[in-house]
Amino acid sequence: MGIAISGTGLHTPSQSISNAELVESFNAYVRNFNEQNKDAIARGEVEALQESSVEFIEKASGIKSRYVVEKEHTLDPKIMCPRLPERPNDELSILAEIGVLAARDAMKAADKKAEDIDAVLVACSNLQRAYPAIAIEVQNALGIEGFGFDMNVACSSATFGIQAAADMIKAGNARSILVVNPEICSGHLNFRDRDSHFIFGDVATAAVLEPEETAHSKDSFRILGTRLKTAFSNNIRNNFGFLNRTSPETANNTDKLFVQEGRKVFKEVVPLVSDMITSHLEDLGKNAYDLKRMWLHQANKNMNDLISRKVLGQDPDQDQAPVILDEYANTSSAGSIIAFHKYKSDMAVGDLGLICSFGAGYSAGTVVVEKLS
Ligand code: COA
Repeated sequence: MGIAISGTGLHTPSQSISNAELVESFNAYVRNFNEQNKDAIARGEVEALQESSVEFIEKASGIKSRYVVEKEHTLDPKIMCPRLPERPNDELSILAEIGVLAARDAMKAADKKAEDIDAVLVACSNLQRAYPAIAIEVQNALGIEGFGFDMNVACSSATFGIQAAADMIKAGNARSILVVNPEICSGHLNFRDRDSHFIFGDVATAAVLEPEETAHSKDSFRILGTRLKTAFSNNIRNNFGFLNRTSPETANNTDKLFVQEGRKVFKEVVPLVSDMITSHLEDLGKNAYDLKRMWLHQANKNMNDLISRKVLGQDPDQDQAPVILDEYANTSSAGSIIAFHKYKSDMAVGDLGLICSFGAGYSAGTVVVEKLS
């Protein structure tokens, strides 16, 4: 049975932060810190913090701005963290809320109603709570029967979710499945860390998968194949978890937020992903020149350019490998789906494309698609 991605959805938060605003806040924090610690710094007991720069951020990453669910406190040099008041249990959680908005958009694009869908997978990097699953909350809010569960494969959650959904449909366990990627990355980002304070943004994406036979939207894609890979690495970590409270002396250390060795990630992930793309295409009897477009994970523009050069043998243009990270920053699992969502309707029937994710784990996923309608 052929499986189609028959609709995608996007919810973009209304507030955004430019690099200039972010750097102004970071540098105010640095100046306050250095002033407050000036005697200890002079004695060599504390290291002075260094300022960040807009030029570095744009050159090193290609990021120019990011959307966030809460801007004011994130930019307050005394807080540098979004403030999202806890909601009562009978209100929709914020992660489910943005997921529902993206899911509705995807259902509309796929021309599907709640009764057409049998399952909801919430696949993302950061889940708001242990249980009940956010997916079950999204399912309930949308009025969908059937089942839902959460899965976390960091930045590769969306492609892993797509393969899981496609396999479940093929196995006859569901007719149509919603894969939802709500990413509130500002919640796990250490805005006081110079190396990474600029990296992430918030967003939600969603996709509807169903058998080709029932897909009748104007913008659907046949899945030609999916491939997943994981290889353990400590170079991207977040040690937040339910056992943190059992070690109170380290429970609030900065490793309970996102940390990475960016240079190592860059060096190790580029060959892993480019080889994976090439061999997946080969196994499908295709090659890179058959691809009209690659919707790559959106973490770093230089990294994507290098992957494209290795795979295509040339510098990509916006048509071959669209960039959305300039506006959205790294939105973890949602990045490649935002690119797919925004840059697919111009494709002709029969055109081939590739959705590709990579990130912590390491984890990587490729989904090769062909435009159906
Ligand atoms: N402002 C100004 N300068 C900064 C800075 C900042 N915010 N952060 C670091 N620098 C400086 C460093 O101090 C260093 O200076 P030095 O050369 O004098 O020592 C220099 O810039 C280079 O730092 P480095 O950390 O090596 O930068 P980089 O070129 O590797 O870029 C990343 C950093 C994170 C943008 C890049 O490594 C990256 O994106 N890697 C891939 C990460 C990824 O995909 N992760 C997946 C997450 S899901």
